[in-house]
Amino acid sequence: MLNILLLSLLCSFTLAFPFQLPFKFSSDEQQPKSSIHTISEYPTHTLSTNSIQSLGLEKPEIGQYAGYFKCGLTENNMFYWFFESRNNPDTDPLILWLTGGPGCSSSYGLFFELGPSSIDVNLKPVYNNFSWNSNASVIFLDQPTGTGFSYGGIPALSTDTLTQQIYVFIEFFFDRFPNFRKNKFHIAGESYAGHYIPNLLHQLKKNWHTITFKVESVLIGNGIIDPLIQIGAYEPMACGKAGYKKLLNDSDCQYMIDKYEVFKKYDKFCYITGELYSCVHARKLGKEISEPFNKLNLNPYDIRKKCIANTSDCYLESQAIDKYLNLPEVKSVIGVSQNLEFKMCNDEVAKPFEWYGDNMRPSQQYLKEALEVDNTPVLIYSGDKDYLCGWIGLLEVCDKLKYEGFVKQPIQNWITLDGELAGQVKNYKKLTFVRVFKAGHMVPFDQPRNSLDLLNRWINGDYTLSN
Ligand SMILES: *[C@@H]1O[C@H](CO)[C@@H](O)[C@H](O)[C@H]1NC(C)=O
Ligand SMILES: *[C@@H]1O[C@H](CO)[C@@H](O)[C@H](O)[C@H]1NC(C)=O
Ligand SMILES: *[C@@H]1O[C@H](CO)[C@@H](O)[C@H](O)[C@H]1NC(C)=O
Ligand SMILES: *[C@@H]1O[C@H](CO)[C@@H](O)[C@H](O)[C@H]1NC(C)=O
Repeated sequence: MLNILLLSLLCSFTLAFPFQLPFKFSSDEQQPKSSIHTISEYPTHTLSTNSIQSLGLEKPEIGQYAGYFKCGLTENNMFYWFFESRNNPDTDPLILWLTGGPGCSSSYGLFFELGPSSIDVNLKPVYNNFSWNSNASVIFLDQPTGTGFSYGGIPALSTDTLTQQIYVFIEFFFDRFPNFRKNKFHIAGESYAGHYIPNLLHQLKKNWHTITFKVESVLIGNGIIDPLIQIGAYEPMACGKAGYKKLLNDSDCQYMIDKYEVFKKYDKFCYITGELYSCVHARKLGKEISEPFNKLNLNPYDIRKKCIANTSDCYLESQAIDKYLNLPEVKSVIGVSQNLEFKMCNDEVAKPFEWYGDNMRPSQQYLKEALEVDNTPVLIYSGDKDYLCGWIGLLEVCDKLKYEGFVKQPIQNWITLDGELAGQVKNYKKLTFVRVFKAGHMVPFDQPRNSLDLLNRWINGDYTLSN
C-alpha cells in the first residue's frame, strides 16, 4: 500500500552505505556534450550502490550490487539489483529487466524466472544453471515506485510518466558503472512491459539529444502490446483454436466472441481518440470477456494448471519470495529499510493505470517506429499456454505491424543448440516472433534451458534462430 505516513518516514531514511554520485559529466571530455543536460537537468538525483558478497544467490566472485536511484525533488526511490555476467562482464551484453503488473516487482523475474537463484520453501537459495546472467549482466529494476522495494514520490499515473523516470535511471547506471558503456545494452521484460518497453523506446527517441546510450535490441515476453488485437485471443486460447484442448462449451465460446465485438468498438475509439471513458470502458468489457474462463478456476498464466495458490499469480513456487525478501538480514544486506514491507505485486500501483485506461491503450506503434525508423531489433516471444497474452494474439500483433516482409514469412521450427524442438519462429530482418512450447506467461520458469538458448542466440544477433 502507498501509505502516506510510512512513505514520509522513509524519505528521511538514509541507506547504510550511501554512494553519492559525483556529477562527472561536465568535466569528463569523453562524454558527449549533450549529456550534460541530462544530469544538470536533474541535479538532485542520486544513485546509491551496495556491493553484495553474502546471501549466496550468486557465486562470490560474480559482481553483485543493489541500491536506489533517487529522484530528489519527488523523493522517488527506485530499487535495482544488478548481477554481473557469470561469463565475461567486460564484454558480455547488459540487460535491463522489467517485470510488469503494473506494480509487480522485477524480483519476480529475478527469483521466479531468470535470476541466478530461486528461493525454496525453507527460504534458501537454489542455484539456477540457466540464469540469464550466464552470458550477460542483468539489472532488475523495481518500477514504478510503490513496486517491490521502490517507494516514495509521486505515483506513476501512466506508462508515459513512468518511462520518463526509467531512462534517467539508465543514464545514472552507466555513469556509475562506466565499464558497461561499451557493451551492448538490451531491454527485456514481460507482460505489462509490453507497454513499458515500446513507450520507453519512444521516450528515448523524443529525448535523443540528452541520451548517452544506445539500445541494441528489445525482448518482450508475453507482453500486452496491442490490446485491441490481443483481447481477441482469449476466445481461441480457451476454445481449442490455439494448439490446446477446448476448455469451454460452444455457448461460452460464442459469448466471448460476442463480447469481444462490443469491446472492439470501445477500444478502437480509445485507440483513435485516446478518450478516457472509451479506454476505461474497454478495460471493463475486456475483463467481462473472460468471465466463462474465470469460472474454470484455471491458472490464467498457464492453462494447463489449476489456480492453486491464494496469491495474485496462482503459483505455489513463488510464495517463498515475499518471505525471503522480508527477512531482516536480506533487507540489511541489500540496503533496504526494515520498515519497508515487500509485496510481489502492489495493486495500489496499478490503480492509476486503471483509472487512465492505460492497459487498453496501444503501444505497438512505438515498436513499429523502433523497427522502421531506428532499425532496433525486436523479439516478441510467447509461452504458448498463457491465456492472458495468448501466442496467437501476439503473432497477429507482429503481422499487423506491417513491418516490411514479415507477414509473408513462413513459421519455422526453433531447435535449440541442444537439439530440442523448443517452439516456432517467424522472422524478417529485425523482427522475430517466437512461440515457446510448453510454457506459460513466465517462459523462463517453465523452460529455463530453452529460454536461455533463446536469449543467448538473440543477444548474439541470431535473429532467425536458425544458426
Ligand atoms: C556463455 O557462458 C559460458 C559460461 O557461463 C561459457 O562457457 C560460454 O562460452 C559462453 N558463451 C558465449 C557465446 O559467450
Ligand atoms: C547445474 O550444473 C552443475 C554443473 O554442471 C550440475 O552439477 C548440477 O547438477 C546442475 N543443476 C541442475 C539443477 O541441473
Ligand atoms: C456451458 O457451460 C456453462 C458453464 O460454464 C453452463 O452454465 C452452460 O449451461 C453450458 N451450456 C451448454 C449449452 O451446455
Ligand atoms: C486467501 O487470501 C484472502 C486475502 O488474503 C483471504 O481472505 C482468504 O481467506 C484466503 N483463502 C484461503 C483459502 O487461504
